[in-house]
Amino acid sequence: MAEPRTRIDPTDPDIYLDGIPHADFAEMRAAEPVRWIPQVRGSAGFDDEGYWAVTRHADVMAVSRNSETYSSRENTAIARFQPDMTREGIEMQQAIMLNMDPPQHTKQRAIVSRGFTPRAINSLRTALSDRAAAIVGSIDTDSGDFVTDIACELPLQAIAELLGVPQEDRGNVFEWSNSMIGYDDPEFSGADPMESAMGLLGYAMQMADERQTCPRDDIVTTLVKAEIDGEHLSVDEFGFFVLMLAVAGNETTRNAISHGMHAMLSHPGQWELFKQTRPRTAVDEFVRWGSPINVFQRTATQDTVLAGQKIQAGQRVAMFYGSANYDEEVFTNPHIFDITRSPNPHLGFGGSGAHFCLGANLARLEIDLIFNAIADHMPEISLAGPAERLRSGWINGIKHLPVNYH
Ligand code: HEM
Repeated sequence: MAEPRTRIDPTDPDIYLDGIPHADFAEMRAAEPVRWIPQVRGSAGFDDEGYWAVTRHADVMAVSRNSETYSSRENTAIARFQPDMTREGIEMQQAIMLNMDPPQHTKQRAIVSRGFTPRAINSLRTALSDRAAAIVGSIDTDSGDFVTDIACELPLQAIAELLGVPQEDRGNVFEWSNSMIGYDDPEFSGADPMESAMGLLGYAMQMADERQTCPRDDIVTTLVKAEIDGEHLSVDEFGFFVLMLAVAGNETTRNAISHGMHAMLSHPGQWELFKQTRPRTAVDEFVRWGSPINVFQRTATQDTVLAGQKIQAGQRVAMFYGSANYDEEVFTNPHIFDITRSPNPHLGFGGSGAHFCLGANLARLEIDLIFNAIADHMPEISLAGPAERLRSGWINGIKHLPVNYH
């Protein structure tokens, strides 16, 4: 492991170019597990103050589990990642569940959870398994970019299957989704992210509107008709929910697949083991190892103390999943990639609180299906060059992964 640097800002994109900065995180966990980081740049919607970086597993869990003290409402993204965010922008983001607190969050989550029951997710298995086989089967070159050829497609298809988006509309929906998440990378899409968000929002609201007047036997109807305490999702709320799915379920799963493949091919013994035994534990090790979302934040609603550190009401508290997932207090040999690791209490899908990833089981299904399809149809796959990483302190992303397919 490299030597730790002095007092880094763990949201600085430049320190992630070679992957998660493990030495720096190890130093923080040991020396100052709740450390104040002055923020370089603020903006209209945020104060300039800085934030508390939380790097240990136990403390990330404590923050995630306590929505009363640690609110999601003042935006779960770090100011640095949205430097031009305005107060109006923050208010708009409060329309998505990720940025809600109880009781509003509890009600909305109870409604939308009906679309994510084990039964609902399992009903997608056959369609997604066929998709996974078709994606792998469509590769007709000897080499290529694993990210664009394989990892991108299934997460988009999964959300479209879940919502029952008809085939003829999927092209548009995929383009909007890709452009929205290509926030700092015009290479993925040339479209304006704001226009794409509006396109997707309009499309989703139209879907909800249609189902309210003409109910069908599908998930959109279930969601727009479901009632909790006499309240149901409005057409607008449904629109924002779909917007969030496109952001939350897309790039995350794509990166979990890319990290999984990169790790497997960098540890050929593990890839051999996977092909022979197909352990179900592999998927969670990919998510731990890659930690596709590096950080989310909360805002303290009252003065409090975390791991002995005083935190004042109104201060930001950032949870670094990419650090917690390598905490030696919890994981034996955290830097060994082990697809049979069990138990694996990683926090890649968030801590076990109110906001724990709604799509975790869908993501697990997708990752499992695509790796099984690759092992069945493309067992000789190998690395053809180094992975090119996304320049981001928020998303641990792989932009390109050159591979030989045969
Ligand atoms: C929340 C990670 C896939 C939908 C979260 C959170 C994390 C996360 C860390 C917690 C946010 C917080 O505590 O503030 C991931 C990773 C994925 C993945 C690493 C892939 C490997 C998906 C998929 C979907 C999805 C496939 C849906 C299609 C959501 C939603 C929330 C969420 C709706 C918000 C839940 C709430 O606020 O109650 N995800 N996610 N995610 N995720 Fe995922």
